[in-house]
Amino acid sequence: MSEGMTRRQVLAVGGALGAMAAGGLGAAAGLSRHPATTGAELRSAVPLPPPYTTPLPLPTVLAPVAVSGGTDHYEIVQRETTAEILPGIRTPLWTYGGTFPGPTIESRRGRPVTVTHRNELPVPTVVHLHGGRTPADSDGYPTDLVTPKGWPAAGAPHTAHDRGAAADAHDAPHTMHDPRAVPTRLTRDYTFPLDQRPALLWYHDHRMDFTAPAIWRGLAGLHIVRDAAEEALGLPAGPRELPLMIADRAFAADGSLDYPSLDPTLRTRPGVREPYLAGVLGDVVLVNGAPWPVHEVDAARYRLRVLNASNARHYDLAAVGGDGRSLPLVQIGSDQGLLAAPVTHRSLPIAPAERYDLVVDFTREPVGGLVRLVNRLGTGRTRDVMAFRVARRAADPSRVPGTLATDLPSWRRQDAVRVRDFAFRAGRMGEDGGHGWLIGGRPFDPARSDVRVRLGDVELWRLVADVHHPVHLHLTGFRVLSRGGRPPLPHDAGLKDTVSLRPGESAEILTRWDGYRGRYLFHCHNAEHEDMGMMANLEVV
Ligand code: C2O
Ligand code: CU
Ligand code: CU
Repeated sequence: MSEGMTRRQVLAVGGALGAMAAGGLGAAAGLSRHPATTGAELRSAVPLPPPYTTPLPLPTVLAPVAVSGGTDHYEIVQRETTAEILPGIRTPLWTYGGTFPGPTIESRRGRPVTVTHRNELPVPTVVHLHGGRTPADSDGYPTDLVTPKGWPAAGAPHTAHDRGAAADAHDAPHTMHDPRAVPTRLTRDYTFPLDQRPALLWYHDHRMDFTAPAIWRGLAGLHIVRDAAEEALGLPAGPRELPLMIADRAFAADGSLDYPSLDPTLRTRPGVREPYLAGVLGDVVLVNGAPWPVHEVDAARYRLRVLNASNARHYDLAAVGGDGRSLPLVQIGSDQGLLAAPVTHRSLPIAPAERYDLVVDFTREPVGGLVRLVNRLGTGRTRDVMAFRVARRAADPSRVPGTLATDLPSWRRQDAVRVRDFAFRAGRMGEDGGHGWLIGGRPFDPARSDVRVRLGDVELWRLVADVHHPVHLHLTGFRVLSRGGRPPLPHDAGLKDTVSLRPGESAEILTRWDGYRGRYLFHCHNAEHEDMGMMANLEVV
């Protein structure tokens, strides 16, 4: 059974984390010397272009193949292709629909969408709509595989010797059989009711044990939900609304995306080489799939819808004008849509999977000037993200109202009917196993029940971390109540679905289980941590 085998192999890759837990995390090779980041950086082996030369691509908006009975139907073929990401270099990718990022889906609140995904990749895939309020059977549970042509129905096409000596050297067999998995062959229809607040969502791969390398190879796209109330606000729109998917990558000498997989075919053996167990960082910053791009703008307000789609890299974003002064970042929304009122920042930390909805005003910038979006946590070239070149003066009918939304949940601490505690830490994978990333001392097991919650209940969760762990809940949004026993930070405002815990930090979050019953997940969105155990089941009953 593939699941049993892969879990043993996860045990086998855990040695370095064992050393980390024993010898102190700070001393481990798996952690960057940069205190602001958890992970290790790969170095590209090809020449990298100068910044701000590649134009910013805007992902194409997918057209429905059919509109029937109030539902929009889409089709996406998952397939291999190559693209010119770096000038003059062909890079093989795994894509949704032939592009990275995949096509953007634009939806109206409450108008259901079905997406038929067809898997023409060499391995099974699973699609998850991150931030979606989605019935469990379309939420992309990691064992609900869509298997490709030629993939044996019962599991991975491996032989005993594919497993490698390391896997055999370990452990009692660990059975990861998931009796509740609902795999499909070749295609799957995902249904998204989208009965939720307007927000920037994203879809990405969620296959058991292999999510991180699959996203790295290109399996990520945007899904925007809109409604009339948001459109009536008069925010910058049309060409002055820009989705920005930020993701770091590294390139091997042959032009392919470099990634330290133990099994580069991603067929049988999960995990990454030892120095990268804490997370894989690239040395190239891509925005919408282009390296350090530049975008020509009017001297006007722009709405920037920012997603950190990186596996492990955190950014601290600032917009810097030609005179070195930073432009205010006016935050109007968070992971799950608009804030009650705008919050102005000088810089904004963004962890993997978090989103910010920002307004930046270029009105006072000189024509011809460059406003750089920089990463204050970066070193060397990862300090740069992208730039805006102010091309012309222009009229600007947009506004940023003082009240943005009045529909934010009003749950308070005293509404919680239950308090739960979860520790996100490195630790032992099993009795005599190696080490991985654990929640409450346990690695992910699809067959185990971890948390059962009642539909309609408000719960308070207390989370604590050893290193950086961006913690994500499927199905519902939450409010951040506190950090380290103190009030939340300004960027914690609004309704979130991912909260960035910093090393040694605790946070309290408050949510109401709402929407659908069934089997969901919560996990760390450092994608390497997620693949190496840091995920748990959440059953809504
Ligand atoms: Cu982007 Cu399970 O999440
Ligand atoms: Cu999610
Ligand atoms: Cu983590």
